Amino acid sequence: MEPSSHDIENAGLSTAPPSVSGDRRASADPVAPGYQHWPPLRTARLVIVPLNIAWPSHVAALNDREHMRWSEQRRLVHSKETQRGYIASANEYFVLLDLQRAESLVTSVGSMSCVIDRDNRVVNMGIMVIPGECNKGYGKEAWTAVMNYWLTGGGMVRVEAGMMADNFAMRDLCSSTGMEYDGTKLSYFQINDNSRQDMVMFGKVR
Ligand SMILES: CC(C)(COP(=O)(O)OP(=O)(O)OC[C@H]1O[C@@H](n2cnc3c(N)ncnc32)[C@H](O)[C@@H]1OP(=O)(O)O)[C@@H](O)C(=O)NCCC(=O)NCCS
Repeated sequence: MEPSSHDIENAGLSTAPPSVSGDRRASADPVAPGYQHWPPLRTARLVIVPLNIAWPSHVAALNDREHMRWSEQRRLVHSKETQRGYIASANEYFVLLDLQRAESLVTSVGSMSCVIDRDNRVVNMGIMVIPGECNKGYGKEAWTAVMNYWLTGGGMVRVEAGMMADNFAMRDLCSSTGMEYDGTKLSYFQINDNSRQDMVMFGKVR
């Protein structure tokens, strides 16, 4: 059963700090907004908010081996419980976002993840659009909005993404949203026991 708007409003976020090996000096901590203050981003068709809901449609997409063939999620079996755990692991350094349709608060076309290096002001982004919603421009719409947010109000200087060399949908998405090819990490991914694949990097600097 899909969650109600009441569930959405009452879902909590983890704000647990990441483990660090020393106390951070206040002066060494650059200004970047906390996850708690994520502003709902509105695009033509989406509202992008912190991911609070273990959507059945997301779990089904994550268990779709063909759809996840370019993602590390391909190695895992997902359930509502594992998805809840994933959601609970979010904090101000690991932001998870829900790509909800603007016309309805209770449907989602996918999710995004942002790993934040606050000291260097760099964000590494990932995205998953559920199979039935692919090739409709949602990925590009969400990616553009989140990338622009980080590089403007979000206080970051660089946004980047890495992907398997043969993930042409993702490569197209990055290049068509203004990112530039940054280079290739050779033989980065273990595909199966005897096959490896390169990682292609894209980035955009403010
Ligand atoms: C990659 C992904 C997010 C793209 O989302 P999407 O909503 O389908 O993308 P869009 O419809 O916004 O299209 C964005 C661009 O990619 C292109 N594209 C989309 N699917 C494509 C495909 N299968 N092959 C080649 N190009 C493709 C579009 O033509 C468009 O390029 P353009 O603007 O130059 O025309 C989606 O396919 C997905 O979730 N894949 C599985 C998860 C994944 O691989 N995530 C990335 C892991 S690094």
